[in-house]
Amino acid sequence: MKLLVTGGAGFIGSNFVRFMLREDPDAQIVNFDKLTYAGNLDNLRECETNPRYAFVRGDIANAGQVREVLSSGGFDAIVNFAAETHVDRSIGSPSDFLNTDIFGTFCLLEAVREFAISRYIQISTDEVYGTVPVGSSTETAPLNPSNPYSASKAGGDLLVLSYFRTYRTPVLITRASNNYGPNQYPEKFIPLATTNVLDNQPIPLYGDGMQIRDWLFVEDHCRGIQTVLLQGKEGEIYNIGGDQERPNREIAELILSILDKPKELIRRVADRPGHDTRYSLDCSKLKKLGWHPTVAVEEGMRQTVTWYRDNRWWWEKIKSGEFKKYYQEHYGHRLEESTTLDEEDAR
Ligand code: NAD
Ligand code: TYD
Repeated sequence: MKLLVTGGAGFIGSNFVRFMLREDPDAQIVNFDKLTYAGNLDNLRECETNPRYAFVRGDIANAGQVREVLSSGGFDAIVNFAAETHVDRSIGSPSDFLNTDIFGTFCLLEAVREFAISRYIQISTDEVYGTVPVGSSTETAPLNPSNPYSASKAGGDLLVLSYFRTYRTPVLITRASNNYGPNQYPEKFIPLATTNVLDNQPIPLYGDGMQIRDWLFVEDHCRGIQTVLLQGKEGEIYNIGGDQERPNREIAELILSILDKPKELIRRVADRPGHDTRYSLDCSKLKKLGWHPTVAVEEGMRQTVTWYRDNRWWWEKIKSGEFKKYYQEHYGHRLEESTTLDEEDAR
């Protein structure tokens, strides 16, 4: 199978590229990535010499570049990971999100039609369902996004579904819960908290820290995508969750306990606007195809924290660059006004 993987230099995309090259000896992969601040070829060093892997730099929102990469021919499927992905950045500056997550998806869908690609997988997110106070979202739950990131992803999903209804384009959508694991850019909660603690810096916890996410180990996600690629039905959506719902505060405490660091490193900071308080997925549809998550968050976190501890070369480079400015702008002021959990409990 020859795959065009878009956004393959990012966190989940690079894990998926490595997973597929390892699991499927027939897989050939072309990784098409714009290399934004989140794209990182260090993630794919071990693939560079693999004859079944190639990298092409390009933008999914540039129809000419998409056409050019597909012109080399023979693609059986496209798996679209390429996106702007960080909620906090989408609040400050949404336009790149609309451009890549909606217009970029449109460019890919047009190319699928033009080149008669026989399968297109759109990698989406549980965040399109918005906050879920009770119960769990099935694939038919209404879309209720809360921020420009999730609204852009929802827009992309709706375009994908419209191409199935209008043109019978062979599309499928996966909607995953929060991923964690090696190679995640340290703006996201788990790698940010872990690398901060490794440097004896605080964990900024938004609001009361009781917001719930369903944590999915990235390799379980990759296997879920592979299942959908091989067995999913065209025009359908498949939820992929970890069955590991935990409040953020518990995740912060878990990181500290793995690294044997004091609880005082947790700092409560001003909350994110429009913060979704809980996500929860019903994944029975994908489980009927034989997939289920295998990694409990306590075990996955042990592996993940160990990876960041042993791979400082990977994240120190990132944190010393553009990231420093981002961190100061997003966290500097909030951390100055932060409190420890004990100070907050005493109030
Ligand atoms: P990431 O931010 O780590 O990586 C995104 C990648 O896309 C980068 O390599 C970047 O260079 C590339 N990219 C961005 N814009 C591009 C463009 N216009 N053209 C080509 N490449 C472009 O993201 P991630 O966390 O790996 O997420 C991958 C996908 O999975 C996204 O679609 C995201 O919405 C979805 N998702 C993520 C999570 C999560 O917890 N991280 C959960 C569910 C779904
Ligand atoms: P994040 O990793 O940004 O993913 P998402 O917003 O897409 O779920 O955040 C995960 C959770 O952690 C979310 O509830 C926000 C919270 N959070 C913090 O408490 N502190 C932080 O510094 C960050 C980045 C996130």
